[in-house]
Amino acid sequence: MKIAVIGTGYIGLVGAAVFADWGNNVVGIDIDAEKVAKIQRGEMPIFEPGLSELVLKNVDAGRLSFTTSLKDGIHDAEVVFICVGTPQGDDGSADLSYVWAVAKEIGQALDSYKVIVTKSTVPVGTNERVKEIVLENLKQPVAFDVASNPEFLREGFSIDDMRNPDRTVVGFESPDSKAIDVIHRLYAHLESPLVECDLRSAEIIKYASNAFLATKISFINEIGQLCEKAGADVNIVAKGMGLDKRIGPKFLNPGLGYGGSCFPKDVSALYRVSTDQAYDFKLLRGVMEVNELQRDLFFKKVKSYFGEDLAGKTIACLGLAFKQNTDDVRESISIKFVRMLRGMGANVRVFDPEALDTAKKDLGDVAITYCESEYDAAKGADALCILTEWEQFKELDLDKIKTLLTEPVIFDGRNLLDMQRVQEAGFTYFAVGRKTNAMVEHNQNLTKKSYAVLRNGSH
Ligand code: UDX
Repeated sequence: MKIAVIGTGYIGLVGAAVFADWGNNVVGIDIDAEKVAKIQRGEMPIFEPGLSELVLKNVDAGRLSFTTSLKDGIHDAEVVFICVGTPQGDDGSADLSYVWAVAKEIGQALDSYKVIVTKSTVPVGTNERVKEIVLENLKQPVAFDVASNPEFLREGFSIDDMRNPDRTVVGFESPDSKAIDVIHRLYAHLESPLVECDLRSAEIIKYASNAFLATKISFINEIGQLCEKAGADVNIVAKGMGLDKRIGPKFLNPGLGYGGSCFPKDVSALYRVSTDQAYDFKLLRGVMEVNELQRDLFFKKVKSYFGEDLAGKTIACLGLAFKQNTDDVRESISIKFVRMLRGMGANVRVFDPEALDTAKKDLGDVAITYCESEYDAAKGADALCILTEWEQFKELDLDKIKTLLTEPVIFDGRNLLDMQRVQEAGFTYFAVGRKTNAMVEHNQNLTKKSYAVLRNGSH
């Protein structure tokens, strides 16, 4: 099958490479000439495990090519995927200007029947508007159909998610749309269910799925707040809940809240869509509020230990990416946390296994020290904060860290470390929703000195 993919961001580039790997002839299209040239040289604009190899393999096999010309790129294609960004607009809704621009250009260039499929995450009603825009811009009478095929790819695992999805959702204009046959041929080899529905339901499935996962995260984070007050352990509570098959263990990891290019924007956009439909989605308001609060409450722990003024203090921060296995720092809670520490006057030493370069761009205006390793970051710091859930941080050599820090204090924003191991190693340990040695009764009133007494007293 001949396929065109417009937009070579996370979704478009992974999509194009996997479609090609399935044996299709694929053209990736992007208006950014520099980006296209880089991809053609085998340099990926994003960090995604296995992507560079997959792109090069399919380029070498002659199944995958890239161009900046939409007109040339879609000319032979039977299916055209729209994979451009839909960033968050000023009012919280999705900014659809890239989608509209692409729809207009497709209309102007269309010269034979094609199925135009939107993969970008878009609010309800968008695909119908895409149809109208393409129609309005046709230069000649030509038939086409639209379809909605939202993606559910997780950064860091997107190739595997695309190859082995839990389900594939496709919305069509009508039950007898010609697009159905085309989509069936494209996804025929997948063993998981194909959910076929109307355009509007497909659009809402995408937002509802992301918002539900975000709700799970905010829910467990609130349970964590309760656990802290009640002297329980949120990790054990999450395990006990997750073993119920109706609940499931995934997305019940407490922490600093959700970040990234999808959850914050999509939850906010769904809330806006609801408001536009004259429905006040109360639960989503709570989900967003808890997510903000979660970071602030963790920050409060640092302040409860050091006091309001962090001037003269040095804090080592591990993890800048919005989650593990990516270099993406968009809407990263870690980045916001680093800014908050600097705002309170702290010196900040940071390390991330993949996201140092991307973070430098984001934090360009903030004076911090970029370090080469976890241990380099800990050198001379007064405390260590774990902000992103990278696997390698679980294996920290605690004895080494202890010799590098001026005080043995760890703030674990992802409950990543083994509590017993950390405490036995002689650290004052702050975590999320757990009764650690630092979370003793009325800990808000303790001074740094009294923590030291407690720490030493318990060993
Ligand atoms: C998400 C969806 O999972 C994916 O289906 C959609 O297509 C795009 O958005 P992604 O943004 O790559 O994928 O990240 P995800 O793994 O879902 O994590 C999102 C955020 O939630 C991260 O900041 C992560 O740290 C946080 N998270 C995740 C938690 O705090 N706890 C959890 O249990 C899971």
